[in-house]
Amino acid sequence: MKRIGMLTSGGDCQALNAAMRGVVKGLSKNVEDLEVYGFYEGYKGLIYGNYRLLTGSDFSGILTKGGTILGTSRQPFKLMRVPDEKGLDKVEAMKQTYYKLRLDCLVILGGNGTQKTANLLREEGLNIIHLPKTIDNDIYGTDVTFGFQSAIDIATDAIDCIHTTAASHNRVFIVEVMGHKVGWLTLYAGIAGGADIILLPEIPYDINKVVSAIAGRNKAGKGFTILAVAEGAISKEDAKLSKKDLKEKMKNRKYPSVSYEVAARIEEKIGSEVRVTVPGHTQRGGSPCPYDRVLCTRLGAAAANLILKEDYGYMVGMVNGNTKKVPLADVAGKLKMVEPNSKIIKEAKLIGISFGD
Ligand code: F6P
Repeated sequence: MKRIGMLTSGGDCQALNAAMRGVVKGLSKNVEDLEVYGFYEGYKGLIYGNYRLLTGSDFSGILTKGGTILGTSRQPFKLMRVPDEKGLDKVEAMKQTYYKLRLDCLVILGGNGTQKTANLLREEGLNIIHLPKTIDNDIYGTDVTFGFQSAIDIATDAIDCIHTTAASHNRVFIVEVMGHKVGWLTLYAGIAGGADIILLPEIPYDINKVVSAIAGRNKAGKGFTILAVAEGAISKEDAKLSKKDLKEKMKNRKYPSVSYEVAARIEEKIGSEVRVTVPGHTQRGGSPCPYDRVLCTRLGAAAANLILKEDYGYMVGMVNGNTKKVPLADVAGKLKMVEPNSKIIKEAKLIGISFGD
């Protein structure tokens, strides 16, 4: 007999359902009497006792389905210890729900913030297994997160589509790519889409270097330039500001996002129009790509295996091509960023991609 709780928290992505299916299939094939409780809208469901006993049919046909059958919400980690508007202690409420249902384990699918709360619940004595979800690929301790490859496909498609129109009009185009504070998605989609310039949060850009890369292309007879710009990209000047000053500057920024600012600065220097395309949340939508389906099936099965062995307190990651249990205590709160001196950056530079640095 096993009683499992499951929730998906933070921004959604394409392979959440595939991962939950992996866990439940792995358990149901090996446990006589399995009960799976699904909490709605992430930690909210656990806090306010909003859940449902799921059945086998809930997990049937969902391998290819994007989003999450449980719904999700963002519950910031920094507010977890702060009582809600009615004075409810959220951590105590989550523990009560867990004990009331007599759960053997809680399987939590989510990104960095979600992982911090998962670790907090572990510290509070609950049995936790975490599965690393995010299109941003910024979770420490795993080579890859699920959602990342599917999002690369979509962002790459966006850049591919821009290529033909950019070439026809001889224009400079910016495609803004998601990724929050890290540049993994922009780096991979940028390379895959053949972007000429890639701007990442980890490599602050110099607008003059960006403009000279565009001029270099023009001189070589290429009338158009494509930039893949991470939503968190930052200029060299801004990177020098204190956290407080930067926050203030962002608050008063007259552009809707960093790409529009980059576009305005380029326009000012080259004297011709720059177009911006923002694929936005399409990058998190649709079906998971085959890679993510396989990844989630493996992560789910490995998670089930840990639950069968009653071995808790881990994130199940993918390390050097194999599933691996990684202690939550070792990874929670750490961010995996693109290393500016890494081989992939050096190789991209070698083939002529500019990072504006
Ligand atoms: O973390 C995933 C992500 O899609 C980031 O890339 C992006 O910055 C953020 O979520 C967008 O959040 P929201 O869906 O709340 O607008």
